Amino acid sequence: MSRLAAPDTPNQTKIVDVTDDRNRLDVEQLLELYRTTWWAHDRSRDLVQRALDHSRPVLSAWDGAELVGFTRVISDLTFRATIWDVIVRPSHQGRGLGTKLMHAVLDHPDLKTVTSFFLLTRDKHGFYERLGFRHEPDKSMILRR
Ligand SMILES: CC(C)(COP(=O)(O)OP(=O)(O)OC[C@H]1O[C@@H](n2cnc3c(N)ncnc32)[C@H](O)[C@@H]1OP(=O)(O)O)[C@@H](O)C(=O)NCCC(=O)NCCS
Repeated sequence: MSRLAAPDTPNQTKIVDVTDDRNRLDVEQLLELYRTTWWAHDRSRDLVQRALDHSRPVLSAWDGAELVGFTRVISDLTFRATIWDVIVRPSHQGRGLGTKLMHAVLDHPDLKTVTSFFLLTRDKHGFYERLGFRHEPDKSMILRR
């Protein structure tokens, strides 16, 4: 889908690929990425695979063969979309990759008629505000179980 310069190595700048090719996704590497988060560190392989099977699009970012970024969307592909599990590997954070992944979602052809994107965040409000997201505290409700 798109390419981005990865952290510099001594003699070269590697390229990070962002793709929506779900066949490329390596669930073992995704579980490793999930283990870096506070909300998904204990997910099982089977449930993660099931969630992936029902998500679209699924975006992944690759530094060579290493999965360095991920996000997935649940949507009617028409009006509404929720964005989940936005994760950049700690070694690759702060270099624009999270922004790139979010643009890959917001500009994705499957979502071109979507008018409302939703997400939850505990402490990354500033990151999402830069992308145009706004608080609507009087409108949201959630049932957790
Ligand atoms: C949030 C996350 C995806 C951002 O990815 P990233 O690749 O580091 O983000 P970028 O490099 O594209 O950052 C874009 C800008 O947002 C800023 N930013 C990042 N996190 C921020 C925060 N919590 N509050 C305000 N600004 C933030 C960066 O400083 C950067 O600004 P700059 O362009 O002026 O340097 C990444 O930090 C991450 O994976 N965190 C752990 C998992 C997580 O919490 N995910 C979000 C779940 S809701």
